[in-house]
Order: sequence, then structure tokens, then C-alpha cells
Amino acid sequence: MAKDDAKGMRAGLAQYGDAGFSLFLRKAMIKGMGYSDDDLERPIIAITDTFSGYNACHRTVPDLIHAIERGVLLAGGLPVRFPVISVHEAFSHPTSMFLRNLMAIDTEEMIRAQPMDAVVLIGGCDKTVPALLMGAASANVPAIMEVTGPMITGDYKGERLGACTDCRRLWGMHRAGRIGPEEIEEIGGRLMPTAGTCMVMGTASTMALMTEALGMMLPGGAAIPAVHADRLRHAEATGRRAVELAAAGVTPDRIMTPKAFANAFRVLLAVGGSTNGLIHMTAVAGRMGLKVDMAAIDAMGQATPVLVDLKPSGQHYMEDLYKAGGLGPVLRALKPLLHLDCLTVTGRSLGAEVDALPEDWGQNVVRPLNDPLYPQGGIAVLAGNLAPGGAIIKQAAADQKLMRHEGRAVVFDSLEDMANRLDDPNLDVTADDVLVLRNAGPKGAPGMPEAGYIPIPKKLAEQGVKDMLRLSDARMSGTAFGAIVLHVTPEAAVGGPLALVRTGDRIRLDVPSRSLELLVDAAELARRRVGWRPPTHPGSERGYLKLYLEQVSQADEGCDFDFLTRRPYVGSTPV
Ligand code: FES
Repeated sequence: MAKDDAKGMRAGLAQYGDAGFSLFLRKAMIKGMGYSDDDLERPIIAITDTFSGYNACHRTVPDLIHAIERGVLLAGGLPVRFPVISVHEAFSHPTSMFLRNLMAIDTEEMIRAQPMDAVVLIGGCDKTVPALLMGAASANVPAIMEVTGPMITGDYKGERLGACTDCRRLWGMHRAGRIGPEEIEEIGGRLMPTAGTCMVMGTASTMALMTEALGMMLPGGAAIPAVHADRLRHAEATGRRAVELAAAGVTPDRIMTPKAFANAFRVLLAVGGSTNGLIHMTAVAGRMGLKVDMAAIDAMGQATPVLVDLKPSGQHYMEDLYKAGGLGPVLRALKPLLHLDCLTVTGRSLGAEVDALPEDWGQNVVRPLNDPLYPQGGIAVLAGNLAPGGAIIKQAAADQKLMRHEGRAVVFDSLEDMANRLDDPNLDVTADDVLVLRNAGPKGAPGMPEAGYIPIPKKLAEQGVKDMLRLSDARMSGTAFGAIVLHVTPEAAVGGPLALVRTGDRIRLDVPSRSLELLVDAAELARRRVGWRPPTHPGSERGYLKLYLEQVSQADEGCDFDFLTRRPYVGSTPV
């Protein structure tokens, strides 16, 4: 239901059939919070409180709220915080992705339901930024993002550690028997030394950078460490700016345009960002009625070098990017490739913000266009008879020898099947095989978990095998690395060709020609299809699981719920 045009306390009154009584009652009720009449005449700047005792990535949210409130008050507004769901990666069963849309619904409806002239969105951990953007896009009330910011790095015996690239690398060494059980526990205590989000180019970092490029965050906000005083100054400025956005009535639809999404995708590719950034921003674009054109994403990838030297593709961490100037030097290097006329939350264009950047001071984290980390963008879009709706591979983080590879499929029918058999010493597998995991997509798992990083089978890991071709309909953490084909669409659970692969089939990947083929003829696949049945999920007869399974879209549409995406599409991006 659309909100009326009234401002402040008068907006969106609860319906008692008497608007005067509704306003009287509202003001009487909120005076119980101790507000004066003067307070209640101010523009209301709402602030999403995403603190949770389960979410260390959001540990600093109370501090950020204080700073934002200070900014709002200094600019003459009334700050009002309200809770929305907070989702942490490691505390979300079955997977945080299952809950992202629930958080987006919560955000949208609470923005719509409560009086606010602008809203400050506080996100950070992987799913929270996209969920907040999705909700804010649909509610279309003036909005601005503040992220919690990355952790600073940890260390162990002189080695610098970053979550969660090093979590996975060191766990892999533990699996291979090179790190014992006591030592791995000790390392676990040193991987996350501060509040904040994972400090490599994982999904949280990627989404923060994409959001800044999209124009929904004040410049410089993506990379400031969570515990740095600049983070609080940025939050205060965000609060101030929210009051101005409210006065100017700058709604998200004026900022989140096809060109702005193109800028965000350009940055995703240039920073070697997480593949999840593609799914999440596709979902946000869908809220604006924009379909993401995967062929255009691939073309953009071929014309966009990776410039940012961060783990897992490179060597540095987010605090190094912050010291190098944050997103600024990336935007400056990308300037010829960006849409500079896009409006941002500053009220100025992206081009004006790039022109206002300080001079480069000779940092070594962000490379120039003519000396990139990798000549092409991190993500390639694949097509072929195994993925008629597309699949992706993060080529910058893989063994380049495997980018053209044909091998024998070793199929795992589910996450459980993989867990049961992967480390079996009798598993018939070699380093040249292709590990296939299915029923791990949006409907199959459900929730499309980050299971695409299929571990190297223990017996091969013990022989020193570090990478092999793996493919699935799952996602992968942005902190992971390897020759891993993800997001195979349509997923197996809806009858995609992935459902028909059998151990022993040949699979051919050719990243340079963007193809992914199952070398089995169509007649044989048709025979196999006769016996195929979709997986079932206990408990799916009711509740959120029922809604999720009925409504979730495939990866190429962002895994949003069909009824939340704006249909019909009114355009496409990137342009
Ligand atoms: Fe929250 Fe990595 S677990 S950002």
C-alpha cells in the first residue's frame, strides 16, 4: 500500500477511521518516550537497528547509531531507531541466504508502516546490505546506507590473517593433516580480532563497494574499518545528509537507475568481488523493475580489468584499501568506463565526486587500468547444455590451468551425500575429475548455501592437490577461491540438466569461449529425465519455508521472491 504524501508524524497514520484521532493518539503515545512538541515537528530520520547478539559483524551498530543520531540532531532532524532482522553468516540455519528475503520484507514493510522522512540503513554482514537495499528500493523513501565496516586483520605466529579466506585455507591444511586439532582451535581465536565484517574481498566488502558505486552511500564509506574513528565521522555525516535527503525528497528510484547499477557491476568486476555481489545486486535491480542482462555482464567483464589487489584474488586486505583511499582510486581508474552523470546521495553526480578526490599518493593496492592485477574482470558468465540459464566462474581466483578442462563427473546428489562420501578413502576420484554437487540451489538446498566451494577430497588433499574443477547450483563465499563453477541455472531441483548428470559422464569447461557442456547426447538425457523426481523438504507444508519454496527465483533473477520483484520489467542493466 502506497504511503501518503504527508511528512513527519503525520505520514502513514494508523487507520481508525478518524485521521485527527489517529494523529492525536500517535503523538500521545510517542510522548511516552519523552519527546516535546518541538521534537515531533522535526523531519523524522529513522535508523535501522541491526544489532544482534549473534552478529559480531554488527557489534558496533550501537556506536554507529549514536553517531548517526548526532548528525541528524545537528542538522535539525529527529532520529528514531527501529529494529529489523539481523542476519549473520554463521548463525543462520540452513543458510543466511534463506533469510535475506525475509529481512528485505521486514525492512520494506517497516519503512512503509512507520512515519519517516528518510531512513538510514545500517548494514554490514553479507546479507544485510542487499536485504536493506531491496527493502528500501521497494519502499522508495529517501534512504542512505552506512555499513559497519571491515575488521582489521588478525595474526598468528607472525602471519597476517584475514577472514575468511584464511579460515578456509587453514582449515584446508587441517583437513590435509598439516595443522593439528589444538592448533586449528588456537588459530580460530585469532582470525576475527575486532568487530566488523570480513576484511578480504568477500561478499560484505563487495556489497559495500558496490553500494558506494551505486550512489547509495556517502563517498569513502565502504572501506573504513569498523573500529576506526573515521567510521563514526562517516556515520555522523550520513545522519546529517539524511536530513537533507528528506528535505529534498530524493528517493532511491532517482539514484538506483540502470546506469547506476552498471557502475556497481563495473566496480564488482574491477575489485575482483564476490560472485554473491552479482546475485544480490540483481535482486536489488529487480526491485526497480530492471532485469540483469547476463550477456552484458560478461561483455562488461571482458572489458574490465581487476584493479584491486585484495585477497582472495590478490594479497592485501580491506584496511589496506582504506589506507590507499578506499573506493576513490578505483573509481578514478575506472573513470573512462563509468556513467559519471549518475546522481548519488550526496546530491552531486558520481563524476563530480570522482573529480573531488584527492591526488593519488602512490599506493600499491589499486592498480591503474594499464597495469591491472588481471586483464579481465573476475567473473565470467558461462552457457551451454549443462547451464541453459547460465553459470558463472570467478576466474581470477582459480588455477588458470583448469580454465580449459575436460574430465569425468563425480556426482554428489546433495549436501548430505557429499558430506557422507567426499572423504571416503574408497571414493573413486582423481585430480582430473570434475566434482559435481547438485540440489544445492535456491529451491534444492533450500536457500542456495555457500556450498559451491566443494572441499578437495581428503585423499587428494593429502597428496597435495590444491585445486580441481568443481561445479554446482550453489553459491560460494566471496572469500573462497578455486576453479569453481557456480549458480548453474536452472538448478537441479527444478529439473535443470544438472539433475541428469551421472558419475562417469564427461564434462567440458572452456572459460575463454564461455562454454560449459555435458558430453551426453540429448536422447540419453531425455531417457534419464523420465525417472527424475524433485527433492522434497520436510516441513515445507507451512510457514516461511513454504513461501520460500513457492516463490524464490533462480540465480539469474537474484533469488528474490517472484512477488517482490517489480514485474513486468521496465528495463535492463548493465547499460
Ligand atoms: Fe559477516 Fe563475513 S561473517 S561479513
